[in-house]
Amino acid sequence: NPEVFILAIESSCDDTAAAILQNDKVLSNVVANQLIHTQYGGVVPELASRAHQQNIVPVIDAALRKAKIQKEQLSAIAFTQGPGLMGSLLVGSSFAKSLALALKIPLIAVNHMHAHILAHFIDEEGFEKPTFPFLALTISGGHTQIVRVNDFFDLKIIGETTDDAVGEAFDKSAKILGLPYPGGPLIDKHAQLGNPKAFAFTKPKVPGLDFSFSGLKTAILYFIQKKKLENPNFIEGNLDDICASIQFTIIEILMDKLKLAVKETGIKQIAIGGGVSANSGIRKTLKETENKYGWKTFIPKFEYTTDNAAMIGIVGYQKFLTENFETSSVVSKARIQF
Ligand code: KG4
Ligand code: ZN
Repeated sequence: NPEVFILAIESSCDDTAAAILQNDKVLSNVVANQLIHTQYGGVVPELASRAHQQNIVPVIDAALRKAKIQKEQLSAIAFTQGPGLMGSLLVGSSFAKSLALALKIPLIAVNHMHAHILAHFIDEEGFEKPTFPFLALTISGGHTQIVRVNDFFDLKIIGETTDDAVGEAFDKSAKILGLPYPGGPLIDKHAQLGNPKAFAFTKPKVPGLDFSFSGLKTAILYFIQKKKLENPNFIEGNLDDICASIQFTIIEILMDKLKLAVKETGIKQIAIGGGVSANSGIRKTLKETENKYGWKTFIPKFEYTTDNAAMIGIVGYQKFLTENFETSSVVSKARIQF
């Protein structure tokens, strides 16, 4: 088999990323984070587009340099078509189109959520790949889905959030506690020092495999407001316990649905992806299911869980093998299904 070199570009939200893959191996994986959004408490779309424009050429240059690959050696260019912020997506897609045209090589469009799932197929020492079929739990700042993965290109969403994503639940709870954005990692940090049973929050009642997180955020807000009336220093005095209790509730919500998904599908292989899969409590709880319920779980290497271009590259590689190419009139899509 001839070697395939893919340049992958990811620019769906606030990270500008580029990667070079040689078949299913990652030669380089570069991410430029946009720190500017922290001071606004969330991603500002206009600022994100502008930062992508500033970062995209240096990031792609760095990816080529680190991989020791000349652009003339590339077999194809893969880019994120969606879902994401339109202004951000346009920067990546326009660049990918132009470079593919100039180099006269195929152009490949990739669904960002598909990429979070297929990230498990990157060839990485010490990381096993799932076999088909498996269940994927994708948890990020924008998405919460349970997907039945029958094959590389046969995926079915069997459950998803009806309101907030799980990452938003973490970030909005953190905001209520006065923690800076993005608060997910900070809740995780404090949770490790606290008692998860200190405070009880009611779990939402959502039928089937769907999720809801907006009610939890409101419950936490009212709880904090009430406690602060009794004790103005309630948050400061109980931060670790509050964080542990919030995280415990979120993990319970996720695990309840996963258990139901396993029961309904009979599939016991579970792969997680997306930024929230960095959460130490989620990782630990999921690992415990291997002994407890006989599940087999897959947790990707940390750099492939948060937004990155290597995951776009692995989908690009699979699409290259099946010659699933786009013309240069392909358009970005803020919303997109598998
Ligand atoms: O996948 P990602 O990097 O970007 C999106 O596509 O949204 O996910 C970002 C989300 C944020 O909500 C962030 O707070 C959350 O992932 N996150 C965490 C942790 N690390 C990142 N949430 C909980 N615990 C963590 N350790
Ligand atoms: Zn993502």
